[in-house]
Amino acid sequence: MNKKAITISLAVCITVTGLSLIPVSGVMAQDKGRPELTLNGGSKGPVLLKHQLHQAVIQDCAVCHKDFEKKPGALDEAKKAGLLKAKQVMTKTCIACHKETKKAGKKSGPTNCNACHS
Ligand code: HEC
Ligand code: HEC
Ligand code: HEC
Repeated sequence: MNKKAITISLAVCITVTGLSLIPVSGVMAQDKGRPELTLNGGSKGPVLLKHQLHQAVIQDCAVCHKDFEKKPGALDEAKKAGLLKAKQVMTKTCIACHKETKKAGKKSGPTNCNACHS
């Protein structure tokens, strides 16, 4: 290869990788999961969680995900593995926040059983 050929192939390389950065950064955007989830509520029946609504209201994913991974079935898996007690997330995360926000006079979620379980 002569110098000119090397310069041209370098230029091509830079152009191609430069362009490819755009779709790559798109792919690497955070996976926010399903906008609505149905959670296993045991004998009391399933619980519908408006995931997207909560993401918008809460902002910090870790408020919920500190206790279980960001993958489908993670909550049940953590309970089965004994890392979480039954109703722990329900009481300490969901209902705790709904009580707190209600007390503060802010927009809040339900605290009675049948409003969450169906
Ligand atoms: C109100 C609590 C809560 C908040 C806040 C929350 N999540 Fe989740 N997320 C859940 C629950 C519950 C699941 C379901 C886990 C399971 O299936 O066991 C879940 C599941 C997921 C999944 C797995 C895919 C799916 O659709 O089940 C991803 C990815 C995810 N969340 C990303 C996020 C990101 C990113 C944020 C912050 C921007 C966030 N979550 C904020 C509760 C929350
Ligand atoms: C804010 C929504 C919400 C309210 C209100 C609520 N729950 Fe739950 N409940 C959940 C979620 C989410 C789960 C699954 C996560 C967990 O076990 O912590 C659950 C799980 C359960 C389970 C299954 C636990 C297991 O692992 O077997 C039972 C039983 C239950 N709830 C009963 C109740 C009763 C009784 C009430 C009323 C006193 C109630 N829940 C109020 C959301 C709620
Ligand atoms: C840090 C605070 C916070 C946590 C944690 C939280 N919520 Fe909520 N939730 C809210 C607020 C605020 C609203 C009212 C949002 C609105 O209507 O704009 C709400 C609304 C709701 C509603 C009513 C939604 C509707 O419009 O139908 C349900 C059901 C609910 N939450 C279930 C849950 C469950 C289940 C969990 C736990 C997995 C949970 N929430 C965790 C703050 C929280």
